[in-house]
Amino acid sequence: MKKVLVLGSEGMLGRSLCGRLGKMKSFELVKVLHSECDIRKHSEVLEIICDESPDVVVNCAAMTAVDKCEDRVEEAFKTNALGAFNVALACKKAGAKLIHISTDYVHSGDILLQNRPAGYREDDVSIPKNVYGSSKLCGDLSIMSVLGKNALILRTAWLFGSGGPSFVHKIMELGTTGDQFSKPISVVCDQSGNPTSADFLSYAIAKLLRRKTFVGGVLNCTCSGFTSWYSFAQAIQRIAGPERFRRLVVPCSSGWYKTKAERPARTKLDLEKLESLGIDPPYWKYELEKFMKKEFGKTLKTKATV
Ligand SMILES: NC(=O)c1ccc[n+]([C@@H]2O[C@H](COP(=O)([O-])OP(=O)(O)OC[C@H]3O[C@@H](n4cnc5c(N)ncnc54)[C@H](OP(=O)(O)O)[C@@H]3O)[C@@H](O)[C@H]2O)c1
Repeated sequence: MKKVLVLGSEGMLGRSLCGRLGKMKSFELVKVLHSECDIRKHSEVLEIICDESPDVVVNCAAMTAVDKCEDRVEEAFKTNALGAFNVALACKKAGAKLIHISTDYVHSGDILLQNRPAGYREDDVSIPKNVYGSSKLCGDLSIMSVLGKNALILRTAWLFGSGGPSFVHKIMELGTTGDQFSKPISVVCDQSGNPTSADFLSYAIAKLLRRKTFVGGVLNCTCSGFTSWYSFAQAIQRIAGPERFRRLVVPCSSGWYKTKAERPARTKLDLEKLESLGIDPPYWKYELEKFMKKEFGKTLKTKATV
């Protein structure tokens, strides 16, 4: 039986992962809450990881609010860079492997998809556009330098999972308040990525944890399919159905919809390595439909939406 310690266990991904691992007999699960261990504090991380002595640590803890990171640079780097470093040092001391969750936002998004249709590969150079991406990249690099092949950096994107917070929850909240006469919901159409369900990501993590030999290095891990925030919002609207989702959704440019943090335009991640490990990424719209039925109830109009 493998002992797995999950940091950030009460976050959106942490809850999904712990829910899955908790039902599997092959794992002994240790859930660690933010209130029990602040990853910014080396001594707290060291104590909990050395005391529990797990085979593998999964780090889902992070500062994830992209615009907030822009305002609170020090806090972002302390959590996403120093925090990740602390986790890596503790894993090294305890002899544990580490699976760390990273992001597509480490990339600039300036890739030309006509030259590279499959998107960013794991060994591509990363040049982040914002503080969140920079702090996460700093975390990835420090983990790799401390643990080498004993760490796996999983790059994911545009997550949605039970309880949120996520884009799906935000759009559902906006769309189900007001009616067709309310102000339309403007969504940017010039930024694209891979929407990914927390459910699939936790399935993939569980599958990687079950392998006899640990896979180290960097691995892209998203659902398949690539879309804009606008098309993502349209899919949410269609699945919810017109009785439930009454407001209009309209496209806008990121120049018009200003945010604190600049976001990358195209962060498609190449999934060839993931597939070569026997993990088949499901199409994002299927995952979205499955997720919305569970999350928002069976009254959703879900026929012929995908
Ligand atoms: N959400 C996305 O769209 C997305 C996309 C790509 C990659 N990712 C990555 O996926 C991972 C999981 O994201 P998520 O969506 O599950 O995020 P989330 O819901 O914000 O969960 C993050 C968790 O980390 C905890 N945390 C924050 N600071 C901490 C600290 N100093 N010490 C210990 N715990 C701390 C948070 O606790 P509090 O709530 O108490 O602060 C929360 O429980 C993150 O590494 C994120 O960068 C997410």
